[in-house]
Amino acid sequence: MSARPTFPMNAWYVAAWDAEVGRKLLSRTICNEPMVLYRQTNGNAVALADACWHRLVPLSLGTLVGDEVRCGYHGLRFNADGRCTHMPSQDTINPSACVRSYPIIERHRFIWVWPGDPALADPALIPDLTWMTDAKWAGDGSMVEVKADYRLVLDNLMDLTHETYVHASSIGNEALAEAPFDAVHGETTATVRRWVLNEEAPAFWAAQLGKPGPVDRWQIIHFKAPSVIALDVGVAPAGSGAPEGDRSQGVGMWVIHIPTPSTAQHTYYFWCHMRNYRINEQRVTREVLQAAGGILHEDETIIEAQQQAMNRLPDRDFYNLSIDAGSLWARRLIDQMIDKETSEQPTGEVIALKEVRA
Ligand code: FES
Ligand SMILES: [Fe+2]
Repeated sequence: MSARPTFPMNAWYVAAWDAEVGRKLLSRTICNEPMVLYRQTNGNAVALADACWHRLVPLSLGTLVGDEVRCGYHGLRFNADGRCTHMPSQDTINPSACVRSYPIIERHRFIWVWPGDPALADPALIPDLTWMTDAKWAGDGSMVEVKADYRLVLDNLMDLTHETYVHASSIGNEALAEAPFDAVHGETTATVRRWVLNEEAPAFWAAQLGKPGPVDRWQIIHFKAPSVIALDVGVAPAGSGAPEGDRSQGVGMWVIHIPTPSTAQHTYYFWCHMRNYRINEQRVTREVLQAAGGILHEDETIIEAQQQAMNRLPDRDFYNLSIDAGSLWARRLIDQMIDKETSEQPTGEVIALKEVRA
């Protein structure tokens, strides 16, 4: 029996930042599907299977010729639909000569692909990440490759208690780990809300706010299955009304985290920090980018070490605490998507939430 998949195929996944895809061939493997990405001369992005119809050589080793990819081995050419348009020394082209062309959409500064059934690729299913292009928000991000299951990245983000221990010098403090939270879910979403009231701000947030004194801090984690997390985070001077809805004295960010599964243990981890203060200062964008890159590296180290330990101890299960409620919901929603497309019976891998809350 083959291993149970760890990701659904019928979903939009971020394959690249918009700026990564241009007039050169970019190779990315998304959900075990090797793809070659590029832009046509009109700017439209294309994702084709990265294996030539003829002898399976990766097309990403070839050349872009106008809007077509020419294989680097024997020169077959494929258009943006994946259809072969040229065969050397042949007048007629075998009508079956084609490679797969994947549904692709450019939105919210990302290139999204759909590795599953193209008939189900509804653009409306792409999560709304409006802050990425809204003029009231500014910021930038990057991508890091993590040698681990993308769900370990999601676990990390669905419970930010870890900031206290993994990011003690920047965004973590003891007050955070002790603050209460609640977790709710919808059909394809899970949300974890946490407020820390009237406490000292950790170093990163104190610098962003630029005012002394205790703060009210919020962390609201929005998960959309299977792999998008938008964090609504920030601080405001304590008692200035933020918990009641007035954040005007504070500073806030939408932090976008998108761990895209490449293979079962390899993840393209896209991230971005969009802020609503000092939005015209590129210096702040650079500083936040640099600070966030360091913080993410701390996560990457822990998560890769966790994956290695899991591989060494394949018979060991996880135990669950109340802080894991959000990540268990995320995993349950992912499992529901996988079950739906594989028509398998649930495996019982997911632990009932009542057990967690006990
Ligand atoms: S392998 Fe691509 S043309 Fe032969
Ligand atoms: Fe972290």
